[in-house]
Amino acid sequence: MPRTPPGGRERPPAAADWYKDAVIYEVPVRAFRDSNGDGIGDFLGLIEKLDYLVDLGVTALWLLPFFPSPGRDDGYDTADYTGVHPDFGTLDDVRAFLAEAHRRGIRVIGELVLNHTSDQHPWFQRARHAPPGSPWREYYVWSDTPDLYADARIIFTDTETSNWAWDPVAGAYYWHRFFSHQPDLNFENPRVREEMLAIVDHWLDLGLDGLRLDAVPYLYEEDGTSCENLGATHAFLRELRRHVDERYGDRLLLAEANQWPEDAVAYFGAGRGDECHMAFHFPLMPRLFMALRMEDRFPIVDILEQTPPIPETAQWAIFLRNHDELTLEMVTDEERDYMYRAYASDPAARINVGIRRRLAPLVGTRGRLELLYGLLLSLPGTPVLYYGDEIGMGDNYFLADRNGVRTPMQWGPDRNAGFSEASGERLYLPLITDPVYHFEAVNVAVQEADPGSLLWWMKRAIGLRRRHPSLARGTFAVVPTPNRHVIAYRREHRSETILVVANLSRYAQWCELDLAGDAGRGVAELFSGETFPWITDAPYGLTLGPHSFLWLRLETIAARTGGQAVVGPARRPARRARRR
Ligand code: GLC
Ligand code: CA
Repeated sequence: MPRTPPGGRERPPAAADWYKDAVIYEVPVRAFRDSNGDGIGDFLGLIEKLDYLVDLGVTALWLLPFFPSPGRDDGYDTADYTGVHPDFGTLDDVRAFLAEAHRRGIRVIGELVLNHTSDQHPWFQRARHAPPGSPWREYYVWSDTPDLYADARIIFTDTETSNWAWDPVAGAYYWHRFFSHQPDLNFENPRVREEMLAIVDHWLDLGLDGLRLDAVPYLYEEDGTSCENLGATHAFLRELRRHVDERYGDRLLLAEANQWPEDAVAYFGAGRGDECHMAFHFPLMPRLFMALRMEDRFPIVDILEQTPPIPETAQWAIFLRNHDELTLEMVTDEERDYMYRAYASDPAARINVGIRRRLAPLVGTRGRLELLYGLLLSLPGTPVLYYGDEIGMGDNYFLADRNGVRTPMQWGPDRNAGFSEASGERLYLPLITDPVYHFEAVNVAVQEADPGSLLWWMKRAIGLRRRHPSLARGTFAVVPTPNRHVIAYRREHRSETILVVANLSRYAQWCELDLAGDAGRGVAELFSGETFPWITDAPYGLTLGPHSFLWLRLETIAARTGGQAVVGPARRPARRARRR
């Protein structure tokens, strides 16, 4: 029986769009901080580190799955949707964590693994023993032959050869889009849909501010189709959105739909904005890396041009890296070959259709890191940062699956990098100890002590992003310049205009921008507050160092005398980053 939503049946006011101004930090509980010395990160450890996250400037956390699970897909193989894996703590620990996060103004987004469960989930154990056709059996997708839905691609190409697996207990094949130990739920079964809504209520009642909808394109199947993005899947998402809006108002639904832009926008509820508030922009991500290596803006500009407009309430989630491989599904065959050659010449660094490396080892230099972050924090969308990438952590692609990018957070140079008091052998994964990225050199404590570190630079960049709403909410328009090594665009929101100019090349570049429409406006650089020459009818010329970028605020015209603009000194940013 559905409960009466708080506040009665009528729709609450439109969901507050807090997610548009958010800076999201993706964090696996097990990787951040171990509070009880068993070698595994936990909720109490995460609480210890909340002040670090506040100081970094992030405003929302996205927690990877923390539910009971056999852990064969890092928790995306759910055995119980409403519990907490004992390694990570208890439900009370989650409550305490939420209270502490909220007290600091930090929102928390959890995972909703809709598409599949673990084969250890009681639903699957019950299903395989239940008579065919019964509602219990029909929690999953069964078939007598492995020939149905033959047009659906295989996602984990390194481990799976079919989307069907034989279950000797049931005497039938079951459908799985991911690992064969992850049977897909059957969304045709109304009980499955009800179960999902009850799970949503469980976590939103507890206080989660949003849910990432894992693997959302694959909920329904239909023969003769790719079994992705089907109308029935979108219909369920509309039902889910209505449910969440009616009961909770301002909670976020974030779609993980690894799709081309025209298919991805459908997850916002094309035109209507009645499905997810946010969706990851998967095709943009590899093109940021391509543009960097090609030293050419084309891949970025091209994919943004191909991206349809999105509803007023919607926002892209944009990212450079995450806990998965750097996926190369949303590129052409030629682009994929290029990416492998450029970024994963060692075949061991490749997995499935992608590259299992972290950001810093992928791009190498500090300049390129700052350039990519300069784009990420200023392109349209809410940035999602991956834990450890703010200090340029390394990886270890000799670890199984994608574990090489999931190693313990590096807090300091001492025992276990300050992650755990356990003996080193007990850690859930080994620390990074290669000579370049060794935790003794790459860690929070060392970078806190050095105002020139990447960590301090990140705090300043995030702080600026948060103080300039046009970077979060502004319109986006490419500013033409003949130099293809340079990408320039403007973001505008209310009276604020910010011009971003970035040099993708490893050499210094000169560029000229046509800004005649802004003639008379002053220009101030955001990091320094320095005043640049004001804009005239002539092309606006800029010199950019290798891999450098500028965030420039266009000032309003203060006064005009005899056709000459007089511009007051650019204001310094309200508050410079604190130095310790
Ligand atoms: C999503 C997750 C990934 C997981 C997969 C299957 O793509 O990001 O880590 O392996 O779903 O659950
Ligand atoms: Ca622990």
